[in-house]
Amino acid sequence: MRSVVELLHGDRISLRELAADDFDAVVEYSVDEAVARYQDWQSHTAEAAKDFLDRAIAAAQQSPRRAYGFAVVERATSLVIGDAWVGIDSVPNRRAEIGYTLRRDRWNRGLGTEAARLLLAFGFDELAMHRIEATTRPENVASTRVLEKIGMSYEGRLRDHLLVDGAWRDWLVYSILEQEWRARSDA
Ligand SMILES: CC(C)(COP(=O)(O)OP(=O)(O)OC[C@H]1O[C@@H](n2cnc3c(N)ncnc32)[C@H](O)[C@@H]1OP(=O)(O)O)[C@@H](O)C(=O)NCCC(=O)NCCS
Repeated sequence: MRSVVELLHGDRISLRELAADDFDAVVEYSVDEAVARYQDWQSHTAEAAKDFLDRAIAAAQQSPRRAYGFAVVERATSLVIGDAWVGIDSVPNRRAEIGYTLRRDRWNRGLGTEAARLLLAFGFDELAMHRIEATTRPENVASTRVLEKIGMSYEGRLRDHLLVDGAWRDWLVYSILEQEWRARSDA
C-alpha cells in the first residue's frame, strides 16, 4: 500500500493528504449543522474534528497503510473546502470504502462528484482494490445522487443500523466493482 500520496488532480479540485494545519478549515465546516446532519458522527464539535484529523494523520504513519484522509482543495482559490477518504476494509479481499464532505457553500456544483471520482480512481488504480463501497443515510439525497453519478449500484438497506441522537437510522449500501469502473472509464 502507498505510504505517501501525491496530489490527485481533478478539473476544479485536488486531493492531498490532510495535515495538522488543516484544522481551522475542517472545524469550520464540521460544526455546520447542515454538513453534519446525515453523518454518523456522534458529535459535531471542534473536538470531534480534531479527533478526525488526528486519526487521518495517524493513518498515514501506519504500515501497511489502511486509510487515506484527503483535504479537498479548490484549485482556483487553494482553499480547503472539504475532506475525502478511503478506508481499506480488507486487504486480501481488496475491498475499500469511500466517503466525502464539502463545506456548504460549495454544494451542488458537481464538486462532490469530482471528489468521489478521484477516490475511485485512486482506489482502483493506485490501491488495486476490487470492490469499493459507500454508505449513506436514505435522507441524504445529495450523497445518494453522487453515488449514482459515479456509477455505484444500490445493494440494499440496513434497517436500524445506527443509533443517532437517540433515534434508529437506516443505512444504504452502494458499491462498484473494478470491471464496472473500468468499463465506464474506458467508455
Ligand atoms: C454529499 C456532498 C459531498 C455532495 O456534494 P456536492 O458537491 O453537492 O455534489 P454534486 O454537486 O456533485 O451532486 C449533488 C447532486 O445531488 C442533487 N441534490 C442535492 N440536493 C438535493 C435535493 N434536496 N433533492 C434532490 N437532489 C438534490 C444535486 O442536484 C446533484 O445532482 P445532479 O448533478 O443530478 O443535479 C455534500 O452535499 C456534503 O458535503 N454533504 C454533507 C456531508 C455528507 O453528507 N457527506 C456524505 C456522507 S455519506
